[in-house]
Amino acid sequence: MKQRVLSGMRPTGALHLGHYHGALKNWVRLQADFDCFYFVADWHALTTHYEDREVIEKNVYDMVIDWIAAGLDPEQCTIFIQSRLPEHAELFTLLAMGTPLAWLERMPTYKDQMEKLKDRDLATYGFLGYPLLQAADILIYKAAFVPVGEDQAPHVEITREVARRFNHLYGREANAEALALAVVKKMSKADGKAFAAARKAFQETGSDDSLAQARALIAASGALSEADRERLDAFLRGTGKTILHEPAVLLTEVSKLPGLDGAKMSKSYGNAIAMREEPAEVERKIRRMPTDPQRVRRTDAGDPERCPVWQFHQVYSDAETKDWVVTGCKSAGIGCLECKQPVIDAILREQQPWRERAEAYLTNPKQVQWIVEVGTERARTVARQTMREVRDAMGINY
Ligand code: TRP
Ligand code: SF4
Repeated sequence: MKQRVLSGMRPTGALHLGHYHGALKNWVRLQADFDCFYFVADWHALTTHYEDREVIEKNVYDMVIDWIAAGLDPEQCTIFIQSRLPEHAELFTLLAMGTPLAWLERMPTYKDQMEKLKDRDLATYGFLGYPLLQAADILIYKAAFVPVGEDQAPHVEITREVARRFNHLYGREANAEALALAVVKKMSKADGKAFAAARKAFQETGSDDSLAQARALIAASGALSEADRERLDAFLRGTGKTILHEPAVLLTEVSKLPGLDGAKMSKSYGNAIAMREEPAEVERKIRRMPTDPQRVRRTDAGDPERCPVWQFHQVYSDAETKDWVVTGCKSAGIGCLECKQPVIDAILREQQPWRERAEAYLTNPKQVQWIVEVGTERARTVARQTMREVRDAMGINY
């Protein structure tokens, strides 16, 4: 069985090349090797854009079209919308009860974003709590991996802490020991004895060898179900049973594409190229792109290190073209417009299949809605099951 990957994106505007190279391209790559769940984080968008209902409404399906255009295959991955699954909110509420405020207050994104988005009032309960909502998003699907950028890594870390705390608080059943001993009885007599001895040694000395030995006995016993094995492992370590699974960040090499001015690409900075930007507009934007400020005249030698166009070459050009740029720039052998042409060509080539794939969905919006419908139901099956386990563990399954 493939391990599960989960990630979400906020629907706050048309996706641009920065989103593609920084995240989406990676999502597409992962879908063959993992059981990928990708969702539209519309509630997350509301944590900062709670006053702009049109922004979010308009962008939800547009974003899904961008995803599919970029190569997400609804047959291979599960695509859904967060707000269609109230289970996320339920888990968020339940986790909120025992999550220390300090864990949220110390999130680096909290103060950073508050500083950056000064035009918005972010002194809200929802904004403080959003990393916990993200934890619920991840834990409800028992995701093994979360592909996110470095800025989001602290959110995955808090998710791990929340899971650990939950398992610690609620993973202990009153009769856990008796249940575990009943599982030991299913093993052969000799193995049961060896397991008991190894467990005792581990708990007394903390020896890694004893732990490994006991785990090998669990793994080797054919008579145990998956649940039995989990129970024995928890019994062995002296912890509760694992209800929520700790996810890991999946940090993969992504190419960073900055905006046209060299700063981070963002629609609100006016330095972005949309994934489905018109070809003429792409050309115009690149031609107007600032270059090395010290290269005032065509005859001045430049330095690619000072030029945002060079960063586009890093993403879009092969070694030969890059050599041509460095040599030509430093010797004033090429002009800047000449230098930009291969970038323009490469972007247009990259966008071509996106435009074609998107076309079918733009003319037939029902099809996108159907894809999301199917994905949402698939996600719901998993989310419901986790919530049953969570309610059981917390004693609220009346
Ligand atoms: N917070 C993420 C962002 O702002 C989006 C997100 C929400 C997410 N829930 C998630 C990402 C769960 C990964 C996993 O980009
Ligand atoms: Fe930038 Fe190319 Fe002009 Fe050099 S030649 S300044 S790398 S655009």
